[in-house]
This record gives sequence, C-alpha cells and structure tokens, in this order.
Amino acid sequence: MTTLTAADLYQKVTHVIPSVEWATMADDVDAILRLKRERNAVILAHNYMTPEIFHGVSDIVGDSLALAREAVTVDADVIVLAGVHFMAETAKLLNPGKTVLIPDLRSGCSLAESITPEDVRALRAAHPGVPVVTYVNTSAAVKAESDICCTSGNAVRVIESLGVPRVIMIPDRFLAANVARQTGVEVIVHPGACEVHERFTPDDIRQVRADHPGITVLAHPECPPEVVDEADYAGSTAQMVNFVEAKRPLKVALITECSMSDNVAQAYPDLEFVRPCNLCPHMKRNTLGAIRHALETMTNEVTVPADVADRARLAVERMLAVGTAK
Ligand code: 13P
Ligand code: SF4
Repeated sequence: MTTLTAADLYQKVTHVIPSVEWATMADDVDAILRLKRERNAVILAHNYMTPEIFHGVSDIVGDSLALAREAVTVDADVIVLAGVHFMAETAKLLNPGKTVLIPDLRSGCSLAESITPEDVRALRAAHPGVPVVTYVNTSAAVKAESDICCTSGNAVRVIESLGVPRVIMIPDRFLAANVARQTGVEVIVHPGACEVHERFTPDDIRQVRADHPGITVLAHPECPPEVVDEADYAGSTAQMVNFVEAKRPLKVALITECSMSDNVAQAYPDLEFVRPCNLCPHMKRNTLGAIRHALETMTNEVTVPADVADRARLAVERMLAVGTAK
C-alpha cells in the first residue's frame, strides 16, 4: 500500500495555495498524515476550515449537519474535530466511546456563548408547552434542556415536523426570523447572533451587485433577514455548495465566512468568486500546527458529563431522525 505524502496532496489545493506556501506547510501535513495512521484517527472538518486543512488533511468535510451525520459513521479510535467546540461536543455525544480532540480548546462561538441552560429554563417557564428548537451552535448543556436540535440546513424541516403553531427557537434571532418567514410558524427568539454573519448589511450586497453586474449572491441564513432579502438564495454552507454545483453561476458571492469561497473555488476554477466575507476568529484558531500538536500529545480532549450527554444526545438524535436538508 502506498502512503500518501504532502507532495501527493498538493494537486488538491493548486488553485488556492501557491506551491511556495504549500512547501512551508509540508512538514506539518506529513506529520499529521503519519499521526492519523498511528493513532487510528480521522479529521472531520467544517466548511470554514482553511484549504490546507479542508482539502489537505481532512477525511470528512461538510456543514454542521453533515458533520453530525458523518460523526455517527466514523470507524476510528480518535476524532479530531477541526471546527469549533460545540461541533466537537456533538461528535462526542454521538460517539461516547471514542476520543474526540479539538485543535484549540478556545474555539468558541458567539451563538453558543449567548445562552445558558438557565436561559432555556426561563423561556420554558415563560411559554409553557411550547417546544424548544435549539440550533446546534450551542453547548451540550443547552441542548440537554431542548426538545430537538436543528442546523441551518434542516431548520425548516425540523420546525415543520413538529406540526405546532409556535416554537421557541434559540439562540440565533436571525436564523429564527428567516425560518419563521419560510414556515409560517411563530417563533419566540433569544437575542443571540453570529458575530460573523450579523456584520453583513444590505448595502454590502447592493455594492457587490453594482461592482459585478450579473453576479449571483448566496447568503447564509445566520445573516439578518434584510440581507437575505437582497440575496438570490439563502442556505447552509452545504446548500451553497449544492447551489453552485447545480447552477454553475459564472460570478458568485458567498455571503459567509471567508474560507468558504476558497474551498469551493478550488473545485470550480472556471467560476469567479467575489469575496465580501468576514473571518470567524474561532474557526481560524484551527491551524495545521494545532492539529499536529493535538494528535502528537493527545490533548484538548472534549468530554460531556454523562447526565448532560444523555439528554443532549436525545435532542440531536431527534433532529437526525427528521431527515435530510431541505
Ligand atoms: P453550517 O455549516 O451548518 O451552514 O453552519 C455555519 C456556521 O456558522 C457554523 O458555525
Ligand atoms: Fe459561531 Fe458564527 Fe463562528 Fe459559526 S461563524 S462558529 S456561528 S461565530
């Protein structure tokens, strides 16, 4: 059996990483490839990882929904979750017997940090009998207080599956507002927001259209509704990829985190990606060096207390049972 090296992998990133830059990464890439074999480890990477991680060293890539789904199928002793803390917790919930590592334990999320279990209990007390739908961008402790989880890729389907006129949808007020418009279900919200997507404005989109006539604009539903209104399509990061694959717009803007365009551009060298984008500082804590260090030292393990895990897993499993993205 031939063993993959950094040199073999370069063809996967030629369009977005110059060869001189790749040469500076080769030592870390080779070390990670070796450590994955030695530890029987796989790397799950979110779409916001930089291309050397996303295309270079990862085994499974995708949006939050795909990572949750794929986590269940992983056949390895160790999962490295190249993403943020709540994603690693979700992988651990679904793989209690495996070791789950995160490259940097400080990789948080403004949405996850916006809400506590006490906040969820207060919302329930204020709205008795109304189901709590919780975005996966939350801690396991918050998921444990919830009836069902959702991602941006399946939120509409999850809400419609409940067959109720009102839901408590936490913690992203913009995702909740965007979903409410699509479903006709009344949503009770919490004032959380993604620090990356809340910064986009309708003027950003108008400017892109003025500068690039004919451009197709895709926005993430964590953006404010008035931004989504200016876009041609709104969807999760995976739904954006599916849109590009199906429609092949010659010029496209992905209104989301910056690495997303780099990763998709590698696969579509003939399309022009215009980049008004914002960096997620939490996602950007993931580097080749941090992945290598976590695997070398087997540190930064993510665990969830058993009593929390059992209740949180239920909410995630209910979501997974609802079906695929819509
Ligand atoms: P998705 O990949 O599920 O669209 O999520 C975007 C995001 O902001 C994750 O933190
Ligand atoms: Fe959280 Fe937004 Fe960063 Fe995603 S992009 S991890 S939602 S802060």
